Amino acid sequence: MVSGMARKPQPLKSIGPLVLIGAGKMGSAMLEGWLARGLDAKKISVIEPQPVKAIKALTRRGVKLNPKGRAAPASVVVIAVKPQSATEALPRAAAYVGKVTLTLSIMAGRTIGFLANALPARSAIVRAMPNTPAAIGRGITVAVANGEVSARQRKQANDLLAAIGAVEWVSDERLMDAVTAVSGSGPAYVFLLAEAMTQAGIASGLPAELAARLARETVAGSGELLRRSSLDAATLRQNVTSPGGTTAAALEILMGPGGFDTLLTQAIAAATRRGRELAG
Ligand SMILES: NC(=O)c1ccc[n+]([C@@H]2O[C@H](COP(=O)([O-])OP(=O)(O)OC[C@H]3O[C@@H](n4cnc5c(N)ncnc54)[C@H](OP(=O)(O)O)[C@@H]3O)[C@@H](O)[C@H]2O)c1
Repeated sequence: MVSGMARKPQPLKSIGPLVLIGAGKMGSAMLEGWLARGLDAKKISVIEPQPVKAIKALTRRGVKLNPKGRAAPASVVVIAVKPQSATEALPRAAAYVGKVTLTLSIMAGRTIGFLANALPARSAIVRAMPNTPAAIGRGITVAVANGEVSARQRKQANDLLAAIGAVEWVSDERLMDAVTAVSGSGPAYVFLLAEAMTQAGIASGLPAELAARLARETVAGSGELLRRSSLDAATLRQNVTSPGGTTAAALEILMGPGGFDTLLTQAIAAATRRGRELAG
């Protein structure tokens, strides 16, 4: 059901023309990643009602911003507006969709069925869910394709998404609500952990600034260790824990009844349910 992690980011020289609709936080992060991987700026058009300075500056490199005139079919149309702007943005996107166009949407909760209704018949569509570490090229994105997506288009989508981090594919779109709950919303849980560690450190007598620094570096360093290590999270946790020691005392509370695992299971189930409700 789940296929493997993307290979190393591929150069994007062969992709284009590409139209990006919505250059906010996620759209800009993708654009930056694409340009860094060699996508020709002259092959990119950006549609964005309120472009920030950095996006306007890209016009000097050849990116077309809010092009006027008749829309020609693009090779790839990427939709990165908020889900609530979808109804407005999709007709604009549809104007660039021709017979061989791939439409790649990163809108949370907007299903392939919803997108297909607004696009020409038999459009090739990939729905993807990235997360905010994409801003530093360290996101993880899960993608799902409809039956119209060719092997070449799937590779194109994979290469475009790999420019902002790791990529996983699923074949069952229903998994996207749980994906959103785990990795889409996940950075918020990790930041909450850093906040809570800071508050707990202050409550234990540490100066606020020191507590915040200890929490930030501990979360970031442990994350990096987890990423680089061949050991799984449970083993890394056990490696910090000596029997009867300080970590064991803390884990007895965190892993006890109603503890961390229970809370996260409930939280992710609530987020998954909410995702389903929002998708309608
Ligand atoms: N941020 C996350 O953690 C995250 C994670 C996974 C997926 N996503 C998805 O990524 C998408 C973008 O999120 P974001 O955080 O990048 O949002 P964002 O910063 O608000 O960016 C959306 C951009 O699209 C523009 N826009 C709105 N309507 C448009 C239209 N009709 N045509 C062209 N551009 C239009 C917005 O302009 P205005 O500001 O003028 O409205 C804004 O600049 C969302 O659908 C979200 O579900 C986000």
